Amino acid sequence: MKITLSVIKADIGSIGGHIQPSKRLKETVGDYIKSEGLNKNLIKDFYISSTGDDIAILMSHQKGKLDSDIHKLAWDAFVKGTEVAKKQGLYGAGQDLLKDAFSGNVKGMGPAVAELEFEERPNESFVFFAADKTDPGAYNLPLYLAFVDPMYNAGLMLSPKMDEGFKFVIMDVSYTEADRVIELSSPQDLYDIAALLRDNQRFVVESIHSNNTKEQAAAMSTTRLHNIAGKYTGKDDPVALVRVQGEFPATGEVLSPYNIGHFVAGFMRGSHNGPLMPSKANTTISFFDGPPVVTAQAFSMREGKFTEPADCFDHPFWDYVRDQVSQKALDIRRQGFSGCAMLPYSELEYGGIVEKMKKLDGKFKIKGEKVRV
Ligand code: F6R
Ligand code: MG
Ligand code: MG
Repeated sequence: MKITLSVIKADIGSIGGHIQPSKRLKETVGDYIKSEGLNKNLIKDFYISSTGDDIAILMSHQKGKLDSDIHKLAWDAFVKGTEVAKKQGLYGAGQDLLKDAFSGNVKGMGPAVAELEFEERPNESFVFFAADKTDPGAYNLPLYLAFVDPMYNAGLMLSPKMDEGFKFVIMDVSYTEADRVIELSSPQDLYDIAALLRDNQRFVVESIHSNNTKEQAAAMSTTRLHNIAGKYTGKDDPVALVRVQGEFPATGEVLSPYNIGHFVAGFMRGSHNGPLMPSKANTTISFFDGPPVVTAQAFSMREGKFTEPADCFDHPFWDYVRDQVSQKALDIRRQGFSGCAMLPYSELEYGGIVEKMKKLDGKFKIKGEKVRV
């Protein structure tokens, strides 16, 4: 049976700042998807969860990627949710709905989307990732390590089902006219993949495909809100879907790189670097509007019907990792605005600094004459 998985997420308002959507907001979004999607047989199943201030709608259906009915269902659910957010006085109500009216699909309209279409395996297993207070480049390192590095993915050495490696489709997100992508395969293009994925702000993984079976393994959202709105309206807070087991990495291999707590862009005002903390599903945001968090929920699926999720980072092992990541967060926060604690000027998300620098630039004076030889 051919199934499409679509995850569409947005920040449409949250309690007490950019912390967590309200229960009523999540219920409103869920009720809408149930009555207009599930009960009308548009979708096969759905699951609502939150990560920081973002609500994600995970859906299974048979309408393929970028389907306008599916995207409109999610958009309309977010519009309904925004009405509740306004009624409740939530902060940032409707923040990610950047366009007034729906047209075609949600790409370029604010919400983030990741979609996979495949012939369902009899024991289809996948992991849904969502990250808050960061941007799509946050997945670059963990995906690289999970799909190309035998130090993290033992299956690359041990399993004949993965011996031809994986193809990466990488997008240049600084190109705003259209989607600018390159296809590179590991292991042969390993160093080229690394050279691009080094730059988290410019190059992000859009999808990954098995070279053994040509099946798509993973899909990531690549939205940069700044490019849509032309100004800061919130961080891009990316979602990802990763199929696991068999010809794909095992769930534990996909999760293992998150023990690093690598530094990603985001944190307070989307303008700092902070370590990515693997967190439990439906987590809140806290210290310095962060730290940047990532959640992972594993599902099994049969004929498009989901099991309940297994919360991958809800395990004593990750408590230990979270302690270490907290230490990294404290270490970098101790140096405040200085050097690598803040993003470079070109990436600062608040327009105020641009005005400030312009004003200061006019106050500079040239002292003395340059001695010419
Ligand atoms: C970062 C984020 C928050 C806000 C901060 C100020 O992605 O959402 O850190 O930038 O709380 O928010 P405003 O400018 O809405 O008062
Ligand atoms: Mg937000
Ligand atoms: Mg967010």
